[in-house]
Amino acid sequence: MPRKKRKILVTSALPYANGSIHMGHLVEYLQTDIWVRFQKLRGHDCTYVCASDAHGTPIMLKARELGVSPEELTEKISAEFVQDFSDFGVDFDNYYTTHSAENEALVGAIYKTLRDSGDIYTRTIEQSYDEKEGIFLPDRFVRGTCPRCASKDQYGDACEVCGATYSPEDLIDPVSVLSGTKPVKRESEHYFFKLSDYEERLREWISSAALHKSVIAKLDEWFDAGLRDWDISRDEPYFGFRIPGTEDKYFYVWLDAPVGYMASFKNLCDRDDSLDFDDYWKAGSDAEVYHFIGKDIMYFHTLFWPAVLSSAGYRTPTSVYAHGFLTINGQKMSKARGTFINARTYLDHLDPSYLRYYYAAKLGPTIEDIDLNLEDFIARVNSDLVGKLVNIASRCAGFISKRFAGKLADELAAPDLFAEFTAASETIAQHFEAREYSKAMRLIMALADRANRYIDETKPWIMIKDDDKSNDVQLVCTQGLNMFRSLMIYLAPVIPAVAEKARTYFNEDQWQWSHASSPLLGTILPKFQPLLTRVEADQVHRMVEQSRESTSVPDRQ
Ligand code: 2FM
Ligand code: ZN
Repeated sequence: MPRKKRKILVTSALPYANGSIHMGHLVEYLQTDIWVRFQKLRGHDCTYVCASDAHGTPIMLKARELGVSPEELTEKISAEFVQDFSDFGVDFDNYYTTHSAENEALVGAIYKTLRDSGDIYTRTIEQSYDEKEGIFLPDRFVRGTCPRCASKDQYGDACEVCGATYSPEDLIDPVSVLSGTKPVKRESEHYFFKLSDYEERLREWISSAALHKSVIAKLDEWFDAGLRDWDISRDEPYFGFRIPGTEDKYFYVWLDAPVGYMASFKNLCDRDDSLDFDDYWKAGSDAEVYHFIGKDIMYFHTLFWPAVLSSAGYRTPTSVYAHGFLTINGQKMSKARGTFINARTYLDHLDPSYLRYYYAAKLGPTIEDIDLNLEDFIARVNSDLVGKLVNIASRCAGFISKRFAGKLADELAAPDLFAEFTAASETIAQHFEAREYSKAMRLIMALADRANRYIDETKPWIMIKDDDKSNDVQLVCTQGLNMFRSLMIYLAPVIPAVAEKARTYFNEDQWQWSHASSPLLGTILPKFQPLLTRVEADQVHRMVEQSRESTSVPDRQ
């Protein structure tokens, strides 16, 4: 029975347009891109959208510091992001910006619905204010001594030494990081969303959203602590959208950022007749919507966002897929160690397929952190991709082109062995679907071992010298190349550039997942070109050296 075609919309978190894409960000974009490519290969209608997160105080201040407008800054940085993503093979169907007319219209309309249904109220609150700069200070822009452990120079929201969380007013000797002056307390009217009214509806959503148990555990903690209403406004000066009906209040960046997912999709729908915005977003839609995010922004995506969507009368996400952080050589990325590696620096030295494979070999569906160990990276890529996978083809292709005029045999030498590769297809697919990429990679590499063992045992290089057996070499190499072809199809979501070269070698217009189960026979193949070279330790060392010299740590909001 043919499988039902699914309509799927996928997003990755929107990167702030004030820094550079680095190896940590790439965990998420590569994890998502692999999943999307897998869905497309399976024949589903899968759409992947993203955008730059353009608003907020840090972006406004950075632009000020550089003497440009925030629009100019975010456009320039977005252009760099687009290039980095494209060079890593991250294939968005649309990449947009949250500073767009579509987003302003959507967030304005959502706000009005929320307000009209009684979910918004105003309250006057006290906040830290920098009188010299004339600006209310986000928590991260106030530093001081931790009220719990007395460690100096801690952020206004949490202590990095003892882990205490608090508000900037609790800090001892607080200082504005902008002017170095002591912040004063100032009152201002803010707009709040009644998150506390949504506990029951959120609990219902959680039970239907198939969230990972590690995410549910976190949500339970938040429910136990009690849901607090959410401040969705900020005072000027602020780079964002003005709240309709006010003169000097802006939507907090975290309200318009997730709406940016919808706006990017809307922008695509307006150009692509095959996609209908309401079809994906109206309440009760049968399309699937997935947000891939880092574990640090779960609160926004599993509480605020579904509550806002349901208050606004839209559907809620099918699920939210959270991943852990990246460590390099077992530690936080560090400029001093040369492990704060930007995407561009990596690309200056290494092939993106290596990293795509390495992350896939490490990734699972949990919020556990993953480690990029650079020695292990070199060993793993060389042994798996070059030593096992590409080697299957290199060992067979020469005989086919030199001795059989490029022609594959009309049958396989060992159909039963090929059937083992076919039999694994659904298990591998289930692993991809469940984001169990490391399990999928292990299974694929076990099959690659099996293929190499077959070639070791049949020894085509000896058979070719024996006149009685030389014709069987065509059968054996057709077998080897077909096992390689099936594995390349399974790996196409992970290493699309390598798969593309392999597909061209096999003279096929396109690949679908099901093609892995039917062998290619009797066709003429061109001369085989090397698909991938080994990683050299030197390349990695040069990348680390370059990272030691020049990188900037992106701001958090
Ligand atoms: O944490 C961040 O980097 C945010 N810019 C992510 C926003 S995701 C979404 F909600 F837009
Ligand atoms: Zn402390």
